Amino acid sequence: EKITLSVIKADVGGLCGHTLAPDELLDTCEYVLEEAIDELLIDYYVTRCGDDIDLIMTHKLGTDNENIHGLAWKAFEEATEVAKELKLYGAGQDLLAEGFTGNVKGMGPGCAEMEFVERPSEPVIVFCCDKTDPTAFNMPFYKIFADPFHTAGLVYDNSMTGGFKFDVLDMYGNKQITLKTPEESYSLLALIGNLEKYAVKRVFRAKDNEIAAIASSEKLNLMAGKYVGKDDPVAIVRAQSGMPAVGEVLEAFATPHLVPGWMRGCHWGPLMPVGEDDARPSRFDGPPRIMALGFQLSEGRLVGPNDLFADISFNNARQKALDMADMIRSMGPFQPHRLPESMMEYSSIPQIMEALKDRFVDTEKVKKLEKTRERGDME
Ligand code: F6R
Ligand code: MG
Ligand code: MG
Repeated sequence: EKITLSVIKADVGGLCGHTLAPDELLDTCEYVLEEAIDELLIDYYVTRCGDDIDLIMTHKLGTDNENIHGLAWKAFEEATEVAKELKLYGAGQDLLAEGFTGNVKGMGPGCAEMEFVERPSEPVIVFCCDKTDPTAFNMPFYKIFADPFHTAGLVYDNSMTGGFKFDVLDMYGNKQITLKTPEESYSLLALIGNLEKYAVKRVFRAKDNEIAAIASSEKLNLMAGKYVGKDDPVAIVRAQSGMPAVGEVLEAFATPHLVPGWMRGCHWGPLMPVGEDDARPSRFDGPPRIMALGFQLSEGRLVGPNDLFADISFNNARQKALDMADMIRSMGPFQPHRLPESMMEYSSIPQIMEALKDRFVDTEKVKKLEKTRERGDME
């Protein structure tokens, strides 16, 4: 029998500014989910990463289930009420639709869900992020599932030597392509190295098409018609027994990479791996953060979590991320700290361009003008 692991997230208010979803909001969500135990849910765990609330739920209703999505929506709605009462910052910011209409996709919250037959022992890792977007997983997923210098199991574990298949989303074309590694790794990299356009959505083990990983990749900017916020992503990765080991999965975050997000969703910044207690981004509203919660499933029960990035072995990664933050911050509003236009969450540039448009002079004309001026000087 299959079980479903659903992670649904939303930002419904921060204390203070965009830094943290306070306990009051988590408690409210827990209360709503607790009431659904047995009826809809097998188990749940509620956490936060910065100003984002993450509902981790197990059930038997499959992915994209209306009741499960409706339950998450209800939890976020009630948390929004509390957020409004406390006048938290950005109360209800991710609940874009007026009412729930069957699926949270396209309505503001992000979600990553997978359905599978629970293995005799089923280790899963739930990643929760803040101040970044779903493309933050492009490089880690490649390393974990396609780079043999990274994941030893790709070379030494017979279940993995057949490689993995990547579902890649074209974020602006509403299209998807599946590429198989190792055969098509170069083509895969050609696409997913472009974070302006492509996001890795899912990864399957090639030998049996068993689902291995999924990231939330609904882009808020596209869904709401206008950019209303970076979609701080969540992801699920299954580990061990023919999948990458827990440590091979986590290793992808030991050398921090630069991701889009941070202040105003307009900057590149290092993705810093942190434990649950350190997921309160404050410096320049960041730097971007990622948490890794390890669970063992037991008939759908969420045993855990083990707060995996809290381990001291990630201290150097954190220090490195902080050093990278110092380095790139020194660029201020200049690229490559600043994101390209198409990726900026806030942009005053169109208005600036509008105001300046009549003051641009054709460079050929400028040359002529300068020549006349020179002659004028000689006369
Ligand atoms: C980035 C983020 C924050 C805000 C910034 C400005 O994803 O949430 O960095 O963009 O604090 O917020 P507002 O415009 O609400 O004042
Ligand atoms: Mg916020
Ligand atoms: Mg956030």
